[in-house]
Amino acid sequence: MNNDIERVIYSAAAIQKRESELAQQLSDEYRDKKPLIVSVLTGAVLFTVDLFDKMDIYAQLDFIDVSSYGGGTQSSGHVKLLHDLKHDIKGRNVLVVEDIVDTGRTLKFLIDLLKDRDAKSIKVCSMLDKPEGRVVDVKADYVGFNVPNEFLVGYGLDYKGFYRNLPYVGVLKPSVYAE
Ligand code: IMP
Ligand code: MG
Repeated sequence: MNNDIERVIYSAAAIQKRESELAQQLSDEYRDKKPLIVSVLTGAVLFTVDLFDKMDIYAQLDFIDVSSYGGGTQSSGHVKLLHDLKHDIKGRNVLVVEDIVDTGRTLKFLIDLLKDRDAKSIKVCSMLDKPEGRVVDVKADYVGFNVPNEFLVGYGLDYKGFYRNLPYVGVLKPSVYAE
């Protein structure tokens, strides 16, 4: 699997270091708020777990699944809810954790969905942000790294469902797409 990677953008060590900084910031922000951490399946799971276990505060964890990509490298533009939260978020401080914000369609869909449920606050923490890819006007409140407009894999990010288990974020060799 490693042989399919052209270059590494963020090493495992760089990711862990940035997560420690974010976890500290988030712990300060949410210390007395008992937030509900909403992890967006499937891509954000690895980031969520590593961030969550660095946060020394009372927090609960839930998952939501939405789909926009059809498994390739281009967003389909259609977002739908595949699996809903277990928790009622009324009156809760909600922190949505995403892997990457590209066009912003997924995030916009999620925020609009959750906004109708009377949460006390809704904020977003995304491991990666691709500002150049934005089509819809949304912003993550906390971002790990801003990345160039390239298709990335690893640390939760997939190509056709694979490469999520790489411990770093990288770019695939063009030959992989040609297959
Ligand atoms: P958006 O709706 O275009 O902002 O896309 C958001 C979702 O598309 C993310 O949650 C990812 O699952 C996926 N995505 C966007 N860019 C990439 C990428 O470079 N590699 C892998 N998945 C991506
Ligand atoms: Mg995603």
